[in-house]
Amino acid sequence: MTSEHSFRIGILGSGKGSNFVAIAEACAAGTIPAGVALVLSDLAEAEILDRARERGIPARFIAPGKFRTKLDEDAERACIDVLRAARVDLVALAGFMRVLKGDFLRAFEGRIVNIHPSLLPSFPGLEAWKQALDHGVRFTGCTVHFVDAGVDSGPIIGQQPVPVLDDDTPETLHRRIHSAEHELYPKCVAAIARGGIVVAGRRVVWKEN
Ligand code: GAR
Repeated sequence: MTSEHSFRIGILGSGKGSNFVAIAEACAAGTIPAGVALVLSDLAEAEILDRARERGIPARFIAPGKFRTKLDEDAERACIDVLRAARVDLVALAGFMRVLKGDFLRAFEGRIVNIHPSLLPSFPGLEAWKQALDHGVRFTGCTVHFVDAGVDSGPIIGQQPVPVLDDDTPETLHRRIHSAEHELYPKCVAAIARGGIVVAGRRVVWKEN
């Protein structure tokens, strides 16, 4: 991250990190007027940590503790501390597979965003692309939203539709949703970094396009 960027992004992920890469590349290209200050993962072997390190971005594994779907108190405190020490302005979840709870949400209130692989409020939770196929919808897509105390339930910042094709498998559909995510997430993060997003209750207004 170069010193010219005053807006600092912290990223949490558990997987391959393709959305992190899309955001990091948009920062490097200047499309997002910000820099990625830190990447954290709850999985020591997560590819996202390698993708960050090969870009020279600080990357850390935080042991999640005893729970399966959330961070325990110590892990949550450790995440808050390192994100604060890195002086992040925005926390972007990019394939982070644990639910964040009270203390974390309070520490970064209104400054946590997530990408989800469906057009919310349809298909929250796991394997949203499979849920969409099983339901038989003709369109699904992806959503970037602010994170609140619910699961995939916060105010929606942006959405991008993806058609479901007759011969789609879970893999082909997820691949196309992933491509849409790589366009949508950097656009939304850029608007936030420029100060172009205003939240009014559940509605998010783009002051610019
Ligand atoms: C993305 O499809 C993201 O929407 C999804 O995990 C994938 C991460 O891919 N997130 C969720 O399902 C969160 N509930 P990536 O590691 O290549 O960015």
